Amino acid sequence: MANEADTVEDWLQKLDGASKLETHSTASKLGVFAKLGVAAILGVNALMLPFLLGSMRRRAIPFVTTSDAKSRSIFEQLSRHIEHNRTSPLKFIDVGSGDGRVVMAAKRFSMAPESPFRFSHCVGVEVNSILLGVSRCSNMWDIFRRWVGARNSHQGSSTQVSVSFVRKDMWAYDVGKFDVVMVFGDLRLMPLFRDKFTKELRAGSFVVSNRFSIPGWTPVASGDEFFIYRIKKPAVE
Ligand SMILES: C[S@@+](CC[C@H](N)C(=O)[O-])C[C@H]1O[C@@H](n2cnc3c(N)ncnc32)[C@H](O)[C@@H]1O
Repeated sequence: MANEADTVEDWLQKLDGASKLETHSTASKLGVFAKLGVAAILGVNALMLPFLLGSMRRRAIPFVTTSDAKSRSIFEQLSRHIEHNRTSPLKFIDVGSGDGRVVMAAKRFSMAPESPFRFSHCVGVEVNSILLGVSRCSNMWDIFRRWVGARNSHQGSSTQVSVSFVRKDMWAYDVGKFDVVMVFGDLRLMPLFRDKFTKELRAGSFVVSNRFSIPGWTPVASGDEFFIYRIKKPAVE
């Protein structure tokens, strides 16, 4: 009996040890992924150094990402302000589009049958070639996935959304033809964005500023660290 109790005790100890080991290895795996993520972001920002050391360094914005949940929440808020009876197709742009995730979120939102409005064109402007490469790959992968899905279900999608990623300096890129402009800028640069958007955008267009508010403008809506503005029509004299 004593022997049996010893055996059970040994077994329980082993089990306890094993579960600690398992918890430890899950935690260390998560730690490795977190470190890889941080290293990737630092690496991508390091690749911006030549650009940052150039004449544009005073306007540099580091690469930080927006979560898909936040993008969805932004599009849901926008849908309360966009006229749903619009006949002209809407154009979306993310200035400083990073790895393209916000542009891809705009595409997904536009292609979902239940979405109250759609963008016909979604554009990302980015200076970092690596991030542009990642963005283009995401879009190719999305096109491939949809193509396989449509083949398997024998149903094509009637909604077409054109997506493009361009390598340009956002300060030299005219955003005048877009209906919704998204920006995740930097506190110091918000007055410059305000001046750019005031000069280039048509009345009625929307500006969504992620994290930082635009000084002197009153948002029509806001959420968890984002602000939605509408360019006002000039006052009739
Ligand atoms: C804060 S990140 C935002 C990324 C993405 N929009 C998002 O929300 O996930 C800003 C991005 O702007 C890019 N950027 C900085 N200066 C730029 C410039 N002058 N022209 C184009 N892109 C720029 C950076 O490379 C970076 O990817």
